[in-house]
Amino acid sequence: MIPRASLHAAADRFGTPLYVYDAAEMDAALARVRGAFGDARAFYAMKANPNLTLLSRLRVAGVGFECVSAGEIARAEHVGAWGDDLIVNGPAKSREEYAAGGRLGATFVVDREEEVGLLPPGSRALVRVNPALEVSTHDHLATGAAGSKFGVTLAQATGVLRALREGGHHALGLHVHIGSAIRDAGDFGAAFARLADLRAHTGEVEVLDVGGGWGLDADLPGIARAARAAADVFGARLWVEPGRYLVARAGTLLTRVVGTKRTGRNFLLVDAGMTELLRPMLYGAEHPVTALWNGERAEVWDVAGPACESGDLLARDVTLPAPTPGDLLAVGDAGAYGAAMSGTYLTRSRPAEALWEGGEWRPIRRRERPEDVWAAEVGAAKF
Ligand SMILES: Cc1ncc(COP(=O)(O)O)c(C=O)c1O
Repeated sequence: MIPRASLHAAADRFGTPLYVYDAAEMDAALARVRGAFGDARAFYAMKANPNLTLLSRLRVAGVGFECVSAGEIARAEHVGAWGDDLIVNGPAKSREEYAAGGRLGATFVVDREEEVGLLPPGSRALVRVNPALEVSTHDHLATGAAGSKFGVTLAQATGVLRALREGGHHALGLHVHIGSAIRDAGDFGAAFARLADLRAHTGEVEVLDVGGGWGLDADLPGIARAARAAADVFGARLWVEPGRYLVARAGTLLTRVVGTKRTGRNFLLVDAGMTELLRPMLYGAEHPVTALWNGERAEVWDVAGPACESGDLLARDVTLPAPTPGDLLAVGDAGAYGAAMSGTYLTRSRPAEALWEGGEWRPIRRRERPEDVWAAEVGAAKF
């Protein structure tokens, strides 16, 4: 845990809004994953947080990467990952992504049968299967429901494996990822069991990749047992793709109080909002909010950001001591899909990021400047 005085020191040194990460918590999360999943190969789903320093740390720890865009593949290459350490996934891959994945010898996750003819010759590939299950998460985060755009149906999977072999590719096995921030661990067991039922048609396969999606309080040993049981049915090695689990707890968004407003509801106005942390607005996600100031007269507040959008709220109905402008607020569990989803709407500069490691702060991303935001715009007259 990062000491409170150090959080204040970081906000003073780097400014706010600021993302900070606790390296020890990241290491502990990886150790929990390895403790539960044993020798399963872990590929970090870098969409959760693609900061190059965090990727480098994971690379040194022997973790591979799951990438879903040319930009993510370039990040993986930048930190030295290639070949067996790379998975290229996505429902609508571009020519550039096939080429980059092929050049680096990545394993492709095939999301539809047409892709068999688009893969670079002799590719290693997994077939993503949609188990057609309702799961316990926000609709936008569910990827394994019938009618979702991801994967092939259970009925199509065997044919796609066959088409891969006939197309001269190395059909490694099957892939399933049912969604993100799944609350009920039983959903995973149900999905893996549906895949295991395919064994009668597919025969043995080399790899079963069970994706990620684990909630932060998930029963990892339970999920791992279900995954291992399904892999054993296929005689397969187990692969996992955790994103959120590896980085969410380690990250905190620090934001300063700008002021207050009482207009029927109590608004605590802060200098971060939807442009820095979109999850509350996008998925109704709830993040723990902690006042880093002391005070009495606790009141209930809605924490609102500076954007001209009514939905620009970081939290609702949180009890906090009486605030003063300049006070520092910590928004927790923000290491995943926080900085990664931050945007430049309103020409807001994306925040700085800093890593707390060995009792010291290390800047790992500088705050953008307005000119960084418009750097790619061309053709405007200069006055
Ligand atoms: C294919 C795939 N694997 C892994 C993940 C990581 O999910 P999470 O961050 O919830 O662990 C995602 C995220 O959506 C994904 O799409």
